[in-house]
Amino acid sequence: MSEYIIKGGKKLEGIVNISGSKNASLPIIAATILNGGKSTLYNVPKIHDTEMMFEILKSLGGTVEKKKNKVIIDTSKIDKFEIPENLMRQMRSSVILVGGLLGKHRKATFSYPGGCDIGTRPIELHLKAFEKLGININKNYGNIECFCDRIIGEKIDLDFPSVGATENAILTSCLADGITIINNAAREPEIIDLQNFLNKMGAKIKGAGSSHIEIEGVKQLKDVSYNVMPDRIETGTFLCLAAINRSNMIIENADANHITPVVDKLEEMGCNLKIEKNQIEIKTPKKLKTIDIKTMPYPGFPTDMQSIFVALLTTVKGTSVVVENIFENRYRFAQELVRMGAKITIEGKTAIIKGVKKLYGASVNATDLRGGAALVLAGSVARGTTKIENIEYILRGYENFITKLQKLGLDIEMIKG
Ligand code: UD1
Repeated sequence: MSEYIIKGGKKLEGIVNISGSKNASLPIIAATILNGGKSTLYNVPKIHDTEMMFEILKSLGGTVEKKKNKVIIDTSKIDKFEIPENLMRQMRSSVILVGGLLGKHRKATFSYPGGCDIGTRPIELHLKAFEKLGININKNYGNIECFCDRIIGEKIDLDFPSVGATENAILTSCLADGITIINNAAREPEIIDLQNFLNKMGAKIKGAGSSHIEIEGVKQLKDVSYNVMPDRIETGTFLCLAAINRSNMIIENADANHITPVVDKLEEMGCNLKIEKNQIEIKTPKKLKTIDIKTMPYPGFPTDMQSIFVALLTTVKGTSVVVENIFENRYRFAQELVRMGAKITIEGKTAIIKGVKKLYGASVNATDLRGGAALVLAGSVARGTTKIENIEYILRGYENFITKLQKLGLDIEMIKG
Protein backbone atom coordinates (compact mmCIF):
# COMPACT_ATOMS: atom_id res chain seq x y z
CA MET A 1 0.00 0.00 0.00
CA SER A 2 1.32 3.45 -0.92
CA GLU A 3 1.36 6.53 1.29
CA TYR A 4 1.49 10.31 1.14
CA ILE A 5 3.86 12.28 3.33
CA ILE A 6 2.70 15.87 3.79
CA LYS A 7 4.56 18.64 5.59
CA GLY A 8 1.86 21.10 6.51
CA GLY A 9 1.79 24.83 6.85
CA LYS A 10 3.17 26.00 3.49
CA LYS A 11 1.34 28.82 1.75
CA LEU A 12 -0.81 27.38 -1.02
CA GLU A 13 -2.03 29.43 -3.95
CA GLY A 14 -2.27 29.43 -7.71
CA ILE A 15 -4.25 27.90 -10.53
CA VAL A 16 -5.52 24.34 -10.76
CA ASN A 17 -7.04 22.68 -13.79
CA ILE A 18 -9.94 20.31 -13.13
CA SER A 19 -9.98 16.91 -14.87
CA GLY A 20 -12.88 15.15 -16.54
CA SER A 21 -15.59 13.76 -14.30
CA LYS A 22 -15.11 10.28 -12.84
CA ASN A 23 -18.81 9.76 -12.23
CA ALA A 24 -19.73 10.87 -15.76
CA SER A 25 -16.96 8.82 -17.39
CA LEU A 26 -17.96 5.50 -15.78
CA PRO A 27 -21.53 5.28 -17.21
CA ILE A 28 -20.36 6.77 -20.52
CA ILE A 29 -17.71 4.04 -20.82
CA ALA A 30 -20.48 1.48 -20.10
CA ALA A 31 -22.62 3.18 -22.77
CA THR A 32 -19.97 2.60 -25.44
CA ILE A 33 -21.17 -1.03 -25.53
CA LEU A 34 -24.47 0.13 -27.01
CA ASN A 35 -23.30 1.16 -30.50
CA GLY A 36 -21.34 -2.05 -31.01
CA GLY A 37 -18.77 0.16 -32.72
CA LYS A 38 -16.27 2.94 -32.04
CA SER A 39 -16.50 5.73 -29.49
CA THR A 40 -13.83 8.40 -29.08
CA LEU A 41 -13.84 9.96 -25.63
CA TYR A 42 -11.97 13.11 -24.60
CA ASN A 43 -11.34 14.25 -21.02
CA VAL A 44 -11.69 10.81 -19.38
CA PRO A 45 -9.58 11.06 -16.19
CA LYS A 46 -6.63 8.66 -15.93
CA ILE A 47 -7.54 7.12 -12.58
CA HIS A 48 -7.88 3.65 -11.14
CA ASP A 49 -11.68 3.48 -11.60
CA THR A 50 -11.66 4.29 -15.34
CA GLU A 51 -8.75 1.83 -15.77
CA MET A 52 -10.88 -0.88 -14.13
CA MET A 53 -13.76 -0.16 -16.54
CA PHE A 54 -11.37 -0.52 -19.47
CA GLU A 55 -10.07 -3.82 -18.04
CA ILE A 56 -13.61 -5.16 -17.81
CA LEU A 57 -14.46 -4.02 -21.36
CA LYS A 58 -11.32 -5.76 -22.62
CA SER A 59 -12.23 -8.95 -20.74
CA LEU A 60 -15.58 -8.90 -22.58
CA GLY A 61 -13.89 -8.63 -25.99
CA GLY A 62 -13.73 -4.86 -26.44
CA THR A 63 -10.58 -2.91 -27.33
CA VAL A 64 -9.34 0.29 -25.73
CA GLU A 65 -6.73 2.46 -27.42
CA LYS A 66 -5.34 5.35 -25.41
CA LYS A 67 -3.87 8.32 -27.22
CA LYS A 68 -2.62 11.57 -25.70
CA ASN A 69 -5.89 13.16 -24.67
CA LYS A 70 -8.39 10.68 -26.02
CA VAL A 71 -9.50 7.09 -25.64
CA ILE A 72 -10.90 5.10 -28.54
CA ILE A 73 -13.13 2.24 -27.45
CA ASP A 74 -14.27 -0.42 -29.90
CA THR A 75 -17.06 -2.67 -28.67
CA SER A 76 -17.84 -4.37 -32.03
CA LYS A 77 -16.24 -7.66 -30.99
CA ILE A 78 -17.78 -8.04 -27.54
CA ASP A 79 -18.64 -11.72 -27.27
CA LYS A 80 -18.56 -12.35 -23.50
CA PHE A 81 -21.26 -11.21 -21.16
CA GLU A 82 -19.93 -12.05 -17.72
CA ILE A 83 -18.26 -9.36 -15.62
CA PRO A 84 -15.29 -11.10 -13.95
CA GLU A 85 -15.88 -11.48 -10.21
CA ASN A 86 -12.48 -10.13 -9.14
CA LEU A 87 -12.99 -6.93 -11.18
CA MET A 88 -16.59 -6.55 -9.98
CA ARG A 89 -15.33 -6.81 -6.41
CA GLN A 90 -12.65 -4.20 -6.98
CA MET A 91 -15.13 -1.68 -8.28
CA ARG A 92 -18.71 -1.78 -7.18
CA SER A 93 -19.84 0.79 -9.73
CA SER A 94 -18.93 -1.66 -12.51
CA VAL A 95 -22.56 -2.81 -12.06
CA ILE A 96 -23.29 0.00 -14.53
CA LEU A 97 -21.85 -2.20 -17.31
CA VAL A 98 -24.82 -4.52 -16.85
CA GLY A 99 -27.11 -1.86 -18.39
CA GLY A 100 -24.80 -1.59 -21.42
CA LEU A 101 -24.65 -5.38 -21.90
CA LEU A 102 -28.40 -5.86 -21.47
CA GLY A 103 -29.27 -2.93 -23.71
CA LYS A 104 -27.16 -4.23 -26.59
CA HIS A 105 -26.86 -7.99 -26.10
CA ARG A 106 -29.89 -8.84 -23.91
CA LYS A 107 -27.76 -10.80 -21.45
CA ALA A 108 -25.31 -10.19 -18.61
CA THR A 109 -23.93 -12.19 -15.69
CA PHE A 110 -22.24 -10.66 -12.67
CA SER A 111 -21.57 -11.36 -9.02
CA TYR A 112 -23.50 -9.64 -6.28
CA PRO A 113 -21.50 -6.57 -5.23
CA GLY A 114 -20.70 -6.77 -1.53
CA GLY A 115 -20.68 -3.92 0.97
CA CYS A 116 -18.03 -1.27 0.55
CA ASP A 117 -16.09 1.29 2.50
CA ILE A 118 -19.01 3.73 2.90
CA GLY A 119 -22.02 1.44 3.32
CA THR A 120 -23.84 -1.71 2.22
CA ARG A 121 -24.74 -0.33 -1.22
CA PRO A 122 -27.52 -2.69 -2.32
CA ILE A 123 -28.63 -2.91 -5.97
CA GLU A 124 -32.28 -3.94 -5.63
CA LEU A 125 -33.42 -0.73 -7.37
CA HIS A 126 -31.29 -1.64 -10.41
CA LEU A 127 -32.77 -5.15 -10.47
CA LYS A 128 -36.34 -3.86 -10.08
CA ALA A 129 -35.82 -1.56 -13.07
CA PHE A 130 -34.45 -4.47 -15.14
CA GLU A 131 -37.45 -6.63 -14.19
CA LYS A 132 -39.85 -3.84 -15.16
CA LEU A 133 -38.24 -3.85 -18.61
CA GLY A 134 -39.01 -7.56 -18.97
CA ILE A 135 -35.59 -8.93 -18.09
CA ASN A 136 -35.42 -12.33 -16.35
CA ILE A 137 -33.18 -12.46 -13.31
CA ASN A 138 -31.74 -15.67 -11.84
CA LYS A 139 -29.86 -15.37 -8.58
CA ASN A 140 -27.77 -18.27 -7.37
CA TYR A 141 -24.85 -18.42 -4.97
CA GLY A 142 -24.07 -14.72 -5.22
CA ASN A 143 -24.17 -14.78 -9.03
CA ILE A 144 -26.84 -12.87 -10.91
CA GLU A 145 -27.80 -13.85 -14.42
CA CYS A 146 -29.96 -11.45 -16.46
CA PHE A 147 -31.41 -12.33 -19.85
CA CYS A 148 -34.36 -11.74 -22.18
CA ASP A 149 -35.34 -11.91 -25.86
CA ARG A 150 -36.84 -8.44 -26.12
CA ILE A 151 -36.77 -5.32 -24.00
CA ILE A 152 -40.08 -3.52 -24.06
CA GLY A 153 -40.43 0.10 -22.92
CA GLU A 154 -42.22 0.49 -19.58
CA LYS A 155 -42.85 2.95 -16.75
CA ILE A 156 -40.26 2.64 -13.97
CA ASP A 157 -41.02 4.34 -10.65
CA LEU A 158 -37.83 4.41 -8.59
CA ASP A 159 -38.41 4.21 -4.80
CA PHE A 160 -35.35 6.44 -4.34
CA PRO A 161 -33.54 8.62 -6.93
CA SER A 162 -30.53 6.29 -7.15
CA VAL A 163 -27.87 7.57 -9.55
CA GLY A 164 -26.70 4.10 -10.62
CA ALA A 165 -30.23 2.69 -11.02
CA THR A 166 -31.27 5.68 -13.14
CA GLU A 167 -28.20 5.23 -15.36
CA ASN A 168 -28.73 1.48 -15.68
CA ALA A 169 -32.40 2.02 -16.62
CA ILE A 170 -31.37 4.53 -19.33
CA LEU A 171 -28.68 2.22 -20.74
CA THR A 172 -31.00 -0.79 -20.80
CA SER A 173 -33.83 1.00 -22.59
CA CYS A 174 -32.03 2.98 -25.36
CA LEU A 175 -32.43 0.12 -27.84
CA ALA A 176 -35.75 -1.18 -26.44
CA ASP A 177 -39.05 -1.44 -28.29
CA GLY A 178 -41.27 1.52 -27.39
CA ILE A 179 -40.99 4.24 -24.78
CA THR A 180 -39.52 3.91 -21.28
CA ILE A 181 -40.37 6.43 -18.60
CA ILE A 182 -38.30 6.79 -15.42
CA ASN A 183 -40.10 8.58 -12.59
CA ASN A 184 -38.27 9.81 -9.48
CA ALA A 185 -35.06 9.66 -11.51
CA ALA A 186 -31.80 10.96 -10.05
CA ARG A 187 -31.10 14.49 -11.34
CA GLU A 188 -27.29 14.65 -11.20
CA PRO A 189 -25.38 16.56 -13.92
CA GLU A 190 -23.58 13.28 -14.74
CA ILE A 191 -26.93 11.87 -15.91
CA ILE A 192 -27.32 14.84 -18.25
CA ASP A 193 -23.83 14.09 -19.57
CA LEU A 194 -24.84 10.46 -20.18
CA GLN A 195 -27.99 11.63 -22.00
CA ASN A 196 -25.94 14.04 -24.14
CA PHE A 197 -23.46 11.29 -25.02
CA LEU A 198 -26.19 8.80 -25.94
CA ASN A 199 -28.21 11.34 -27.92
CA LYS A 200 -25.07 12.20 -29.89
CA MET A 201 -24.89 8.45 -30.66
CA GLY A 202 -28.45 8.64 -31.98
CA ALA A 203 -30.52 7.74 -28.91
CA LYS A 204 -33.78 9.57 -28.16
CA ILE A 205 -33.67 10.56 -24.52
CA LYS A 206 -35.16 13.64 -22.91
CA GLY A 207 -35.64 14.91 -19.40
CA ALA A 208 -32.25 14.12 -17.78
CA GLY A 209 -31.62 16.67 -15.04
CA SER A 210 -35.30 16.42 -14.01
CA SER A 211 -36.94 13.59 -12.12
CA HIS A 212 -38.87 12.44 -15.20
CA ILE A 213 -36.84 10.90 -18.03
CA GLU A 214 -38.28 9.54 -21.29
CA ILE A 215 -36.39 7.18 -23.57
CA GLU A 216 -37.78 6.33 -26.98
CA GLY A 217 -36.08 3.14 -28.11
CA VAL A 218 -34.19 3.26 -31.43
CA LYS A 219 -33.03 0.39 -33.64
CA GLN A 220 -29.32 1.15 -33.64
CA LEU A 221 -26.71 3.66 -32.51
CA LYS A 222 -23.78 5.10 -34.42
CA ASP A 223 -20.10 5.82 -33.77
CA VAL A 224 -19.51 8.96 -31.77
CA SER A 225 -16.89 11.25 -30.28
CA TYR A 226 -17.57 13.07 -27.01
CA ASN A 227 -15.97 15.38 -24.46
CA VAL A 228 -16.73 14.38 -20.84
CA MET A 229 -17.84 17.13 -18.42
CA PRO A 230 -15.47 18.43 -15.69
CA ASP A 231 -15.43 16.73 -12.29
CA ARG A 232 -17.61 18.70 -9.89
CA ILE A 233 -16.38 16.86 -6.79
CA GLU A 234 -12.75 17.55 -7.68
CA THR A 235 -13.77 21.20 -8.17
CA GLY A 236 -15.33 21.24 -4.69
CA THR A 237 -12.25 19.56 -3.22
CA PHE A 238 -9.90 22.26 -4.49
CA LEU A 239 -12.27 25.05 -3.41
CA CYS A 240 -12.20 23.57 0.11
CA LEU A 241 -8.39 23.21 -0.06
CA ALA A 242 -8.22 26.96 -0.65
CA ALA A 243 -10.70 27.58 2.17
CA ILE A 244 -8.93 25.39 4.76
CA ASN A 245 -5.66 27.17 3.92
CA ARG A 246 -7.41 30.58 4.05
CA SER A 247 -5.83 31.18 0.65
CA ASN A 248 -6.78 32.28 -2.85
CA MET A 249 -6.96 29.99 -5.88
CA ILE A 250 -8.29 29.92 -9.40
CA ILE A 251 -10.06 26.70 -10.34
CA GLU A 252 -10.13 26.27 -14.12
CA ASN A 253 -12.28 23.99 -16.30
CA ALA A 254 -14.93 24.09 -13.56
CA ASP A 255 -18.68 24.58 -13.82
CA ALA A 256 -20.08 26.31 -10.72
CA ASN A 257 -23.66 25.51 -11.81
CA HIS A 258 -23.01 21.85 -10.96
CA ILE A 259 -22.11 22.57 -7.34
CA THR A 260 -24.50 25.32 -6.28
CA PRO A 261 -24.91 24.05 -2.66
CA VAL A 262 -21.11 23.83 -2.27
CA VAL A 263 -20.68 27.39 -3.56
CA ASP A 264 -23.53 28.57 -1.27
CA LYS A 265 -22.00 26.93 1.82
CA LEU A 266 -18.54 28.38 1.13
CA GLU A 267 -20.09 31.83 0.72
CA GLU A 268 -22.07 31.36 3.94
CA MET A 269 -18.75 30.62 5.67
CA GLY A 270 -17.39 33.94 4.39
CA CYS A 271 -15.41 32.90 1.29
CA ASN A 272 -15.52 35.22 -1.69
CA LEU A 273 -16.22 33.39 -4.96
CA LYS A 274 -16.03 34.96 -8.40
CA ILE A 275 -17.78 32.74 -10.90
CA GLU A 276 -17.12 32.81 -14.61
CA LYS A 277 -18.14 30.45 -17.38
CA ASN A 278 -15.41 27.83 -16.95
CA GLN A 279 -13.62 29.17 -13.92
CA ILE A 280 -14.10 29.88 -10.23
CA GLU A 281 -11.84 32.21 -8.27
CA ILE A 282 -11.92 31.80 -4.50
CA LYS A 283 -10.59 34.28 -1.95
CA THR A 284 -10.68 33.21 1.68
CA PRO A 285 -10.59 35.58 4.67
CA LYS A 286 -8.58 34.64 7.78
CA LYS A 287 -11.75 34.05 9.83
CA LEU A 288 -14.48 31.73 8.61
CA LYS A 289 -17.96 31.11 10.06
CA THR A 290 -19.43 27.78 11.13
CA ILE A 291 -22.18 26.19 9.03
CA ASP A 292 -24.63 23.28 9.20
CA ILE A 293 -24.93 20.79 6.33
CA LYS A 294 -27.40 18.05 5.39
CA THR A 295 -26.47 15.78 2.48
CA MET A 296 -29.35 15.14 0.06
CA PRO A 297 -29.87 13.76 -3.45
CA TYR A 298 -29.05 16.30 -6.19
CA PRO A 299 -29.70 19.27 -6.27
CA GLY A 300 -29.10 19.04 -2.50
CA PHE A 301 -25.69 19.10 -0.85
CA PRO A 302 -23.60 16.21 -2.31
CA THR A 303 -22.65 13.34 -0.01
CA ASP A 304 -19.32 13.14 -1.88
CA MET A 305 -18.41 16.59 -0.46
CA GLN A 306 -19.37 15.73 3.13
CA SER A 307 -15.99 14.50 4.41
CA ILE A 308 -14.13 17.32 2.65
CA PHE A 309 -16.31 19.91 4.44
CA VAL A 310 -15.93 18.12 7.78
CA ALA A 311 -12.14 18.50 7.40
CA LEU A 312 -12.57 22.20 6.60
CA LEU A 313 -14.94 22.77 9.53
CA THR A 314 -12.48 21.28 12.05
CA THR A 315 -10.48 24.50 11.58
CA VAL A 316 -13.40 26.92 12.00
CA LYS A 317 -13.99 28.39 15.47
CA GLY A 318 -17.37 27.39 16.94
CA THR A 319 -19.65 24.38 16.41
CA SER A 320 -20.83 23.02 13.04
CA VAL A 321 -23.31 20.19 12.55
CA VAL A 322 -23.28 17.84 9.55
CA VAL A 323 -26.00 15.26 8.80
CA GLU A 324 -25.25 12.44 6.33
CA ASN A 325 -28.51 11.24 4.77
CA ILE A 326 -27.29 9.17 1.81
CA PHE A 327 -24.78 6.57 3.06
CA GLU A 328 -24.94 4.91 6.48
CA ASN A 329 -21.21 4.48 7.08
CA ARG A 330 -19.56 7.61 5.79
CA TYR A 331 -17.83 8.94 8.91
CA ARG A 332 -14.96 6.46 9.24
CA PHE A 333 -12.48 9.16 8.18
CA ALA A 334 -13.56 11.29 11.17
CA GLN A 335 -11.67 9.14 13.67
CA GLU A 336 -8.52 9.73 11.59
CA LEU A 337 -9.08 13.52 11.78
CA VAL A 338 -9.46 13.14 15.56
CA ARG A 339 -5.94 11.61 15.61
CA MET A 340 -4.80 14.92 14.10
CA GLY A 341 -6.36 16.91 16.93
CA ALA A 342 -9.84 17.54 15.47
CA LYS A 343 -12.84 17.60 17.80
CA ILE A 344 -15.60 15.58 16.16
CA THR A 345 -18.41 13.63 17.81
CA ILE A 346 -20.47 11.22 15.71
CA GLU A 347 -24.02 10.32 16.75
CA GLY A 348 -25.70 8.15 14.12
CA LYS A 349 -26.11 10.27 10.98
CA THR A 350 -24.84 13.41 12.70
CA ALA A 351 -21.32 14.78 13.11
CA ILE A 352 -20.77 17.59 15.60
CA ILE A 353 -17.58 19.46 14.86
CA LYS A 354 -15.96 21.90 17.26
CA GLY A 355 -13.32 23.98 15.53
CA VAL A 356 -9.77 23.77 16.92
CA LYS A 357 -6.94 26.31 16.67
CA LYS A 358 -4.51 23.83 15.16
CA LEU A 359 -4.40 20.35 13.62
CA TYR A 360 -1.26 18.28 14.17
CA GLY A 361 0.53 15.91 11.80
CA ALA A 362 -0.07 12.21 12.57
CA SER A 363 -0.08 8.78 10.97
CA VAL A 364 -3.54 8.27 9.52
CA ASN A 365 -5.37 5.89 7.21
CA ALA A 366 -7.43 6.76 4.12
CA THR A 367 -10.69 4.88 4.73
CA ASP A 368 -12.37 5.72 1.41
CA LEU A 369 -11.87 8.01 -1.60
CA ARG A 370 -13.36 11.28 -0.31
CA GLY A 371 -12.40 10.58 3.31
CA GLY A 372 -8.82 10.18 2.06
CA ALA A 373 -8.98 13.53 0.27
CA ALA A 374 -10.28 15.09 3.51
CA LEU A 375 -7.09 13.88 5.25
CA VAL A 376 -4.95 15.53 2.55
CA LEU A 377 -6.74 18.83 3.22
CA ALA A 378 -6.18 18.44 6.96
CA GLY A 379 -2.51 17.51 6.41
CA SER A 380 -1.97 20.63 4.31
CA VAL A 381 -2.63 22.87 7.33
CA ALA A 382 -1.45 20.59 10.14
CA ARG A 383 1.61 21.46 12.19
CA GLY A 384 4.34 18.90 11.41
CA THR A 385 4.25 15.83 9.18
CA THR A 386 1.18 13.80 8.24
CA LYS A 387 1.55 10.29 6.88
CA ILE A 388 -1.55 9.05 5.03
CA GLU A 389 -1.60 5.31 4.40
CA ASN A 390 -3.79 3.38 1.94
CA ILE A 391 -3.80 6.21 -0.59
CA GLU A 392 -4.94 3.73 -3.26
CA TYR A 393 -8.43 4.89 -2.26
CA ILE A 394 -7.56 8.46 -3.22
CA LEU A 395 -5.96 7.40 -6.51
CA ARG A 396 -9.31 5.85 -7.51
CA GLY A 397 -10.81 9.26 -8.06
CA TYR A 398 -8.31 12.12 -8.37
CA GLU A 399 -6.23 12.45 -11.54
CA ASN A 400 -2.65 13.71 -11.08
CA PHE A 401 -3.58 14.70 -7.52
CA ILE A 402 -0.04 14.98 -6.17
CA THR A 403 1.19 16.99 -9.19
CA LYS A 404 -1.70 19.44 -8.88
CA LEU A 405 -1.12 19.81 -5.12
CA GLN A 406 2.64 20.33 -5.55
CA LYS A 407 1.96 23.00 -8.20
CA LEU A 408 -0.14 24.88 -5.64
CA GLY A 409 2.80 24.78 -3.23
CA LEU A 410 2.00 21.78 -1.01
CA ASP A 411 4.97 19.84 0.35
CA ILE A 412 3.72 16.33 -0.47
CA GLU A 413 5.44 13.19 -1.69
CA MET A 414 4.23 9.72 -2.49
CA ILE A 415 5.93 6.60 -1.24
CA LYS A 416 4.92 3.64 -3.40
CA GLY A 417 4.11 0.50 -1.46
C1 UD1 B 1 -23.23 7.52 -7.19
C2 UD1 B 1 -21.82 8.05 -7.25
C3 UD1 B 1 -21.26 8.27 -5.85
C4 UD1 B 1 -22.22 9.14 -5.02
C5 UD1 B 1 -23.63 8.57 -5.07
C6 UD1 B 1 -24.65 9.46 -4.40
C7 UD1 B 1 -20.97 7.09 -9.30
C8 UD1 B 1 -20.03 6.14 -9.94
N1 UD1 B 1 -20.99 7.11 -7.97
O1 UD1 B 1 -23.14 6.22 -6.58
O2 UD1 B 1 -20.00 8.92 -5.98
O3 UD1 B 1 -21.77 9.14 -3.69
O4 UD1 B 1 -24.05 8.40 -6.44
O5 UD1 B 1 -24.63 10.73 -4.93
O6 UD1 B 1 -21.66 7.85 -9.97
N2 UD1 B 1 -29.41 2.41 -2.87
C9 UD1 B 1 -30.24 1.37 -2.50
N3 UD1 B 1 -30.58 0.44 -3.43
C10 UD1 B 1 -30.14 0.50 -4.72
C11 UD1 B 1 -29.29 1.56 -5.10
C12 UD1 B 1 -28.94 2.51 -4.15
O7 UD1 B 1 -30.66 1.28 -1.35
O8 UD1 B 1 -30.49 -0.38 -5.53
C13 UD1 B 1 -29.00 3.40 -1.86
C14 UD1 B 1 -27.50 3.35 -1.61
O9 UD1 B 1 -27.15 2.33 -0.70
C15 UD1 B 1 -27.24 4.73 -1.06
C16 UD1 B 1 -28.24 5.59 -1.84
O10 UD1 B 1 -29.24 4.71 -2.33
O11 UD1 B 1 -27.54 4.76 0.30
C17 UD1 B 1 -27.63 6.36 -2.99
O12 UD1 B 1 -27.06 5.46 -3.89
P1 UD1 B 1 -26.92 5.76 -5.46
O13 UD1 B 1 -27.55 7.07 -5.78
O14 UD1 B 1 -27.38 4.56 -6.21
O15 UD1 B 1 -25.36 5.89 -5.59
P2 UD1 B 1 -24.39 5.22 -6.63
O16 UD1 B 1 -24.98 5.26 -8.01
O17 UD1 B 1 -23.91 3.92 -6.11
